[in-house]
Amino acid sequence: MIKTAIITGASRGIGRAIAVKFASEGYNVVLNSKNGGENLENTLRFCRSAWDTYILSHPEFSDPGSGHVLAVKGDVSDSSFVKELVNTAITSFGRIDVLINNAGISYIGLIQDTADDIWQNVINTNLSSVHYCTREVIPHMLKNRPENAASAEPVEAGRIINISSVWGDAGASCEAAYSASKGGVNAYTKACAKELAPSGISVNAVACGFVDTDMNSHLTKEERLSVIEQIPASRAASPDEIADIIYHIAEMPVYLTGQIITADGGWI
Ligand SMILES: NC(=O)c1ccc[n+]([C@@H]2O[C@H](COP(=O)([O-])OP(=O)(O)OC[C@H]3O[C@@H](n4cnc5c(N)ncnc54)[C@H](OP(=O)(O)O)[C@@H]3O)[C@@H](O)[C@H]2O)c1
Repeated sequence: MIKTAIITGASRGIGRAIAVKFASEGYNVVLNSKNGGENLENTLRFCRSAWDTYILSHPEFSDPGSGHVLAVKGDVSDSSFVKELVNTAITSFGRIDVLINNAGISYIGLIQDTADDIWQNVINTNLSSVHYCTREVIPHMLKNRPENAASAEPVEAGRIINISSVWGDAGASCEAAYSASKGGVNAYTKACAKELAPSGISVNAVACGFVDTDMNSHLTKEERLSVIEQIPASRAASPDEIADIIYHIAEMPVYLTGQIITADGGWI
C-alpha cells in the first residue's frame, strides 16, 4: 500500500523540500500552490525524479514517478478550492494519509498600518486554510482505520502537521497579524489533537524559527546577520532540515499528538 500526502504551498521553500522528501520516501504526493507556474512545475519535476530514484531500490513499484505525483493550483484560503484539492487527491490515489498545512504568507508593518484586507488575507491564508484542509481530509483519514481493530489496539489513521512559527508563541514586533495567525494555528493544533486522538489521527505543529526561503528575502545582509547572531546554532535552517523533521514526525506513532515542536536552533 502506498501512502498519500497532501502538501500545501509546495511551489517553493519549505513546502517544496517537504514534497521532495515525501516523494523520495515513496509517498504519493499532491502538491499545491496559489500561483502554480514554473515554481510548482519545478517541484513536480523534482518529486517525479525522487520517485524514479525510489523505484530503483523498490522494484515492487514499477510505475514511474509521473504516476505518483500531481499538482493542483489554487488558493487554500478558499474553502471551495480546498474541496476540489482533496477530491482530486482521492480520485487520483484513493486515500489520504498525511496532510501538511504549510502554505503561508507574512506581513511586516505597524499595527496601525495593518488594514482590514491585509489582516484578513494573513488570517485566511495562514489559519482559515488550516481549518478548511483539516476539515476536508478527516472523513478520508477515518476510512484508513482497520474495520475490526480491537479497541485497545493502537489505531493509525492519519497525520496532520501544521507549519507554525516561533512568533505564534513569542509574538513579533511589526508582525501582529502573522503572530496572531500562527498563535491560532498552535491552539487549533492542540484542539484538533484532542478531538481526533480517539480516531487515530495525530495533529502536531512545527514552529519554525529562521529558515532560508523567499519569506526572508526582504532582509538586508546586515539584518540577516543580526538575526543569525541571536541564534545559538549560528545559522538559518535549510528547508531540507525542516522537511526531515516533518517527515520523521509523520512516521512517529500517533501517540505523539497535540505538540508544538519548535525547530529554531535554540533561538527563542
Ligand atoms: N521561512 C521562515 O523563516 C519561516 C519561519 C517560520 C514559519 N514559516 C512558515 O513556513 C511555511 C512556508 O514558508 P516558506 O518560508 O517556505 O515561504 P515561501 O518560500 O514564501 O513559500 C510560500 C508558499 O506558500 C504558498 N502560498 C501562499 N499563499 C497561498 C495560498 N493562499 N494558497 C496556496 N498556496 C499559498 C506559495 O505559493 P505561490 O508560489 O504560488 O505563491 C508558496 O508555495 C509558512 O507557513 C510560513 O509561515 C517560515
